[in-house]
Amino acid sequence: MTNNTICLLPGDGIGLEVIPITTEILEVLDVGLTTESHPIGWRCFNETGTALPKSTLDAVIHSGIGLFGATSSPTGGAPGYSSPIIDLRQQLNLYANVRPAKSLPIPSSRQNIDLLIVRENTEGLYIRSEHWKDQDTVIAERQITRAGSKRVAIKAAKYALERKGILTIGHKSNVLSLSDGLFLQVVRDTAKSYAPDIEIKEQLVDSLAHDLITQPETYDVIVTPNMYGDIISDLTSALVGGLGVAPSANVGDNCTIYEPVHGSAPDIAGKNLANPTATILSLAMMLEDLGYDNASNRLKSELHNTLVAGIYTPDLGGEATTETMLTSILEKLTK
Ligand code: NAI
Ligand code: MG
Repeated sequence: MTNNTICLLPGDGIGLEVIPITTEILEVLDVGLTTESHPIGWRCFNETGTALPKSTLDAVIHSGIGLFGATSSPTGGAPGYSSPIIDLRQQLNLYANVRPAKSLPIPSSRQNIDLLIVRENTEGLYIRSEHWKDQDTVIAERQITRAGSKRVAIKAAKYALERKGILTIGHKSNVLSLSDGLFLQVVRDTAKSYAPDIEIKEQLVDSLAHDLITQPETYDVIVTPNMYGDIISDLTSALVGGLGVAPSANVGDNCTIYEPVHGSAPDIAGKNLANPTATILSLAMMLEDLGYDNASNRLKSELHNTLVAGIYTPDLGGEATTETMLTSILEKLTK
């Protein structure tokens, strides 16, 4: 981080409701971090002709730390529009998408779950190479590289070392023997030499999806190519309360953008019903990564107490509004 300013990127829909609250929380936590908000997304595209203005990109690069909300993408696409978070991940080389799923004290969360998915974030099927071969056939290329697999393996092994010491590699090399075969081999070898003491497991991703439902408490860190991680991390978020509670971080070597996993939720946008938990947990991840462990723990603890008090939004079966949850957390933090 080059200064003490966090770049807020609210985006569209409920991003505009959940991201600004972090400014109030940081004020109360009083750790010396300030915020600065920058335009991004679909509304920005309609107003300025670009979804990711250069000034926004420069601000993220300068700060090195961003907090992104969500952006809307029109179904079927729009000429000239591309999802700015995918552009940010690629342009800033945010190669590891880190998505924890941890049990919460709410009826819709299963208990004893504490796992972390590390998804390769720049390659796989998301490299924008999809094209029409002829009018009946679309081809999409899938890129796996040694360098891309190695750097995400090091990140995942590092997390496994800090946690319970078990790393599961999710892959499909029985079918995709070249591409997933390379991913598996490089991740296995890299993790073994980087962290010889961790236990490394290999599992086909379909069987992994099955076991994440039947025995999620047995997993610690899971590393996968891009798309598998995208899919199974939504699955694991459902185990602990759903998209409204799922935080994440897009991690690179020079920059990290934290991000609630959910989208812009147009069905509830503007109604004060958005669950701020995913954003608050993303902020807690950020504080921990920046070394503010005490502030991070206080924030998580008061979120926990708010949930235990039954103060939560309708997506979790509660009756609270976004604002009521925030007020409860801020009140507890100022006591
Ligand atoms: P979504 O995550 O926006 O919504 C799915 C469902 O979960 C909706 O019923 C929504 O109300 C609910 N939900 C999501 N977050 C919630 C929260 N914090 N509190 C309470 N309920 C919540 O995904 P959907 O509907 O597939 O996409 C909507 C728009 O968001 C689309 O334009 C899509 O492209 C965009 N999107 C953007 C993402 C991003 O910017 N990273 C990620 C996913 C979708
Ligand atoms: Mg997703």
